[in-house]
Amino acid sequence: MRKFLPLLAASVIGGTALASPVTFIERAPYDETGINVAVDQSALRGVLSPDDLSDLVEAGRRLFGTHFTTLDGAGRPLATQATIPTHFKHPREIVFQRASGPDANACTSCHNLPKSGGAGDFTANVFTSEGTESADFDSVDPQFSNERNTNHMFGSGLMELLAREMTAELHAERDAGFAKARETGQPVQVDLQTKGVGFGSITISPDGVIDVAKLDGVDQDLVIRAFSQKGVIPSLRMFTLNALNAHHGMEGDERFGAAMTGEVDFDGDGKVNELGPGLVSALVAYQATLPAPVAVPFDNPEWNALAQKGSEAFAEAGCASCHVPALPLHSLAFADPGPLDTAGTLTQGDVPEPAIYDLSKLDWVAALPRDANGDVLVPMFGDLKRHEISDDRTSHFGNELMSQGFVPRSTFITAELWGVADTPPYGHRGDLTTLDEAIRAHGGEATASRDAYLSLDQETRDAILTFLKTLRMPQ
Ligand code: HEC
Ligand code: HEC
Repeated sequence: MRKFLPLLAASVIGGTALASPVTFIERAPYDETGINVAVDQSALRGVLSPDDLSDLVEAGRRLFGTHFTTLDGAGRPLATQATIPTHFKHPREIVFQRASGPDANACTSCHNLPKSGGAGDFTANVFTSEGTESADFDSVDPQFSNERNTNHMFGSGLMELLAREMTAELHAERDAGFAKARETGQPVQVDLQTKGVGFGSITISPDGVIDVAKLDGVDQDLVIRAFSQKGVIPSLRMFTLNALNAHHGMEGDERFGAAMTGEVDFDGDGKVNELGPGLVSALVAYQATLPAPVAVPFDNPEWNALAQKGSEAFAEAGCASCHVPALPLHSLAFADPGPLDTAGTLTQGDVPEPAIYDLSKLDWVAALPRDANGDVLVPMFGDLKRHEISDDRTSHFGNELMSQGFVPRSTFITAELWGVADTPPYGHRGDLTTLDEAIRAHGGEATASRDAYLSLDQETRDAILTFLKTLRMPQ
């Protein structure tokens, strides 16, 4: 149910028990506060009704497009962009700064291609440095940060659900290995596989020590981290809190509030309780329900025939071994907070009961194909696995100088190709203007596949490009 609150009552929001978790606020023209929704986190429990979910998504859509102002708490004179709350050694005099941020006014300042929630042009690139020590820099020189192009969040709810199921499966395989090693008193090799994607193997000795030398494409904790092009962020919630702080100087209470940092105004901008968990939940709900991009045929049957040929050549050249056309997803119940939300975000342990968004009720989800088990086929063209993608011979993607999340510098998670036709430029830095250039830039583990592409005749390469051009963003 939708509520509109007159301006004068705005100060009482949140204090009273509201039937709907969301309140839409009408502000006077002279009120330059950007945020015009309030969300009661305590009302987000259990399965949300379709009406409440659609209100929450609408609130998230508005927040995603909100140009945050100082009245909201934009700016962070005392806090760096680091994901672990960290103070500047010397307070900042300049509020906005292109390199280490705050570097933008709204999420849509960057995520706007072709619309809200989408990807971004080169001009919307971000300079990211995770370390608490290195988060303050005023140069775009790669010595200080990694430059990344903006990717889109369409279909990201399904992506996070896949990551959760894959993580649970890998953990179950590991736990079975522990039990077997204990029972038999012998070392046990566990081949790690989930949804058809292999992550190498681990060997567990009877005393519980794990040898991870043959682990491949995932962290030692076997958590699939689907987000960022590096594949180091496990959830939309965690990414959202990072982005709010880094780009806007908007501090989520669940990370920067007094309960976590002992300070009511950690970023020193004079605004306390800047952003409650309900608003973060709304941003998560908006992103998690953005429709998945699907293949869109051309009007011209000749081009469709060529695309069909290209799809086959794509598989034959080995592209589909990483860009897996679809991964099967069992559950469509999106819990927020989710099982992969840990320190630095609201977690399932912090709430009486997480909210559940039933994605199966969404029309675009219902329209996705299912496999023989009834699982939804998520048409991602990815594998949620990290790969070494550069080598001495083909080094374009090896351009970063800083490691992130202890992942080697030239290792990236397979770029999901859904929507790729509408989201130039390409590559993690966005410095490639054509799909053909992006394919030719593959090295490392993709060398055989790239060489297969290069050895094709021109018509078959054109067929692959034609196929990729069917992978459109939702229109
Ligand atoms: C200044 C540009 C910019 C702004 C503003 C921005 N983003 Fe991003 N966003 C990026 C870039 C660049 C990436 C890719 C980062 C990487 O790969 O390390 C990204 C990635 C993401 C991702 C991960 C997507 C994926 O599939 O890996 C999420 C989620 C996200 N942003 C949410 C937000 C939210 C929410 C906001 C607003 C609070 C926001 N972003 C504001 C540039 C921006
Ligand atoms: C070993 C795994 C692997 C194989 C095989 C592979 N890719 Fe990729 N692909 C990746 C990774 C990882 C990236 C992200 C590279 C980066 O930007 O750091 C990527 C990026 C891309 C991109 C750029 C996407 C974007 O939005 O920027 C395209 C296009 C692409 N691949 C197409 C192909 C095609 C076509 C083939 C077969 C000829 C192929 N890939 C084979 C792993 C692979």
